[in-house]
Amino acid sequence: MLKETEIDALIGQMFDEIRFTREPAGLYDPLRYMIQIGGKRIRPRLCLTAYSFFSDTFDEGILSPATALEVFHSFTLMHDDIMDRSPLRRGMPTVWKKWNEDTAILSGDVMLIDAYQRIARAPRAVMDRVLALFSRTAAQVCDGQQYDMDFESETEVPMADYNKMVGLKTAVLLACSAAMGAIIGGASTRESDALYNYGYELGMAFQVADDYLDAFGDEKVFGKPIGGDIVNGKKSWLTVRTLEKTSDKAAFLSAFALPADTPEQRSAKITAVRDIYMACGVDADAKAEIVRFTDRALEAVSGIGFGPLKMEVLRRFAEKLVGRAR
Ligand code: IPE
Ligand code: IPE
Ligand code: MG
Ligand code: MG
Ligand code: MG
Repeated sequence: MLKETEIDALIGQMFDEIRFTREPAGLYDPLRYMIQIGGKRIRPRLCLTAYSFFSDTFDEGILSPATALEVFHSFTLMHDDIMDRSPLRRGMPTVWKKWNEDTAILSGDVMLIDAYQRIARAPRAVMDRVLALFSRTAAQVCDGQQYDMDFESETEVPMADYNKMVGLKTAVLLACSAAMGAIIGGASTRESDALYNYGYELGMAFQVADDYLDAFGDEKVFGKPIGGDIVNGKKSWLTVRTLEKTSDKAAFLSAFALPADTPEQRSAKITAVRDIYMACGVDADAKAEIVRFTDRALEAVSGIGFGPLKMEVLRRFAEKLVGRAR
């Protein structure tokens, strides 16, 4: 089993080695930019971690699919930033801002294809399972993104619908990452299913944390504009929870409906909504929810017989996500 630092080194090496120097530059430069500005690379890390539980051979058969997960994820972000009108990603201008929307659409498309080419380098023996898992997941992410957009124009979204949307747009990719590593490593179905569920619950915690940081984070650390969800009328975890518990729904809805056309209006709206979040205590509720999902993640892998060393790795992985500020 590789150590955490060894997996980190492997990830660094994998992404340093990707070149994307093909032509036309207008198509591949944004792709290279997106990969090289970094990010946390949680999905390939989760994939390699799960793989390391079952195999010690880190060859192309695992490194290529692990890279695919990050390329696919970065593609979804490139398109997500157009959809969310977001100017900043990983502390840098987003592709549609730095270039233009057409570029971000086409570069995103080619990234999806690149991801499939890398997936296709998984070992033959598990190719059918890997391909089915990846394709199902990729379609689910699109489903989730559509719900996310649909919810912008709904006044109230029940928590069950929020959970379904986040399960699709975010959790399934972490689930897929863990399960894919396990499958390629030679895990039993019981083991890869447990790791799938671990990744899923971790993904739920991860998106609640993202929603929390979108309102309460530090832009310099988070690397994304604070308050973007509020400006866009997103039904974030904080919004959904506030509507569940506030005694003055009308006041919240009117703050949430404030215009956000000018910078002054935007900051006034963000402050007004955030004040209500804090008055309702949903900031603290979000932190409790993150812990709850993380606990569920660890429950999903208990009783599988992973042993104390692997369980410790999974616990540490989860703990890092809970305390994240970026
Ligand atoms: C952002 O994902 C999108 C969500 C699912 C919340 P990450 O927070 O993993 O983004 P990077 O890759 O580290 O930039
Ligand atoms: C997750 O949602 C995005 C994807 C699943 C592609 P967000 O829209 O909250 O992600 P960020 O905050 O822009 O990274
Ligand atoms: Mg989005
Ligand atoms: Mg977004
Ligand atoms: Mg977000």
